[in-house]
Amino acid sequence: MFSLPKKVTLIEVGPRDGLQNEKNQVETDIKIAFINKLKEAGITEMELTSFVSPKWVPQMSDAREIMNQADLTERSIVLAPNAKGVALAQEAGAKSIAVFVGVSNTFNQKNINRTTDESIEALTPVIFKLKEEGIFVRACISTAFYCPYEGKIDVEECIELCRKFVALGVDELSVADTIGMANPLESYELFIRLRQAFPTVLLTAHFHDTRKMALANIFASLQAGIDRFDTSAGGLGGCPFADGATGNVATEDVVNMLASLNITTGVDIKKLCEAIDVIAPHVSHPIETGMYQLYEKGRN
Ligand code: HMG
Ligand code: MG
Repeated sequence: MFSLPKKVTLIEVGPRDGLQNEKNQVETDIKIAFINKLKEAGITEMELTSFVSPKWVPQMSDAREIMNQADLTERSIVLAPNAKGVALAQEAGAKSIAVFVGVSNTFNQKNINRTTDESIEALTPVIFKLKEEGIFVRACISTAFYCPYEGKIDVEECIELCRKFVALGVDELSVADTIGMANPLESYELFIRLRQAFPTVLLTAHFHDTRKMALANIFASLQAGIDRFDTSAGGLGGCPFADGATGNVATEDVVNMLASLNITTGVDIKKLCEAIDVIAPHVSHPIETGMYQLYEKGRN
């Protein structure tokens, strides 16, 4: 029979992955209200923003103000692509920092203007220092399954890249299907290998829902022993430098599926939908996830 955990942790990525690709510049106050409502809904780990070049990703240019105005917790995570981003994040009080690298060289170059090896080399002393200072370090591994430019990614290549980060002492690997192309068998195969290879590191799955396979991939990953998932309220999201990347799997739909399987997340769907009410008028497209539509019709 299926083996399922009793409890799953959801890492909310809406304020970062969800908004970085938005056409509209969402005001800082609205982002803060969204973040606060997400916390009220029971979210305990969240990517708040990213310290990246404002020329590359204008939506995240208010990272400093977000950090100033948000009630920071140990797991208020911010993304940083390089030493400069990490320094800015620490100045702003970050205690959890996520670095990000693609398995695919072409994607990595388009995303952070460096090859994958150049990124690892530059990040090595940065991560050592962060660990010495007691900072929680998360490594986001992009294009773990498919790359929009290089196609299918070899499982061994992905594991090798993860191994380098684990050797540097990162606390968490967030392994991503950046363009939402993985199927449940591929998800199971990669995550069972990663779980066996890295038994002590926190292992998180990050599924974009481009082809509507993310819930199936989460179910498959649960079988592989994964009990942490990155999700985004309202299914917002996408990487500006990955052609074809659309939203992340919707937090409310994941909470609903897991609840129906008797798996607790600590997240209240109604309150989550109230958080989506805050952001919905400020994004450039309607929010049409299953549970949010039911909530709007008063039926959840
Ligand atoms: P670059 O142009 O090569 O940077 O960009 P540079 O090092 O040559 O510096 C150029 C200028 O940028 C300098 O300023 C630097 O100070 C400044 P100038 O002298 O011209 O005035 N700069 C910065 N400013 C602010 N913050 C920084 C920073 N670094 C340099 N951190 C760079 C390289 C990495 C900066 C750029 O490519 C970049 O910002 N990329 C970010 C891309 C991004 O945010 N992508 C989305 C997040 S990843 C993602 O969504 C995937 C994920 O969800 C998982 C998945 O789904 O796959 C995590
Ligand atoms: Mg993503």
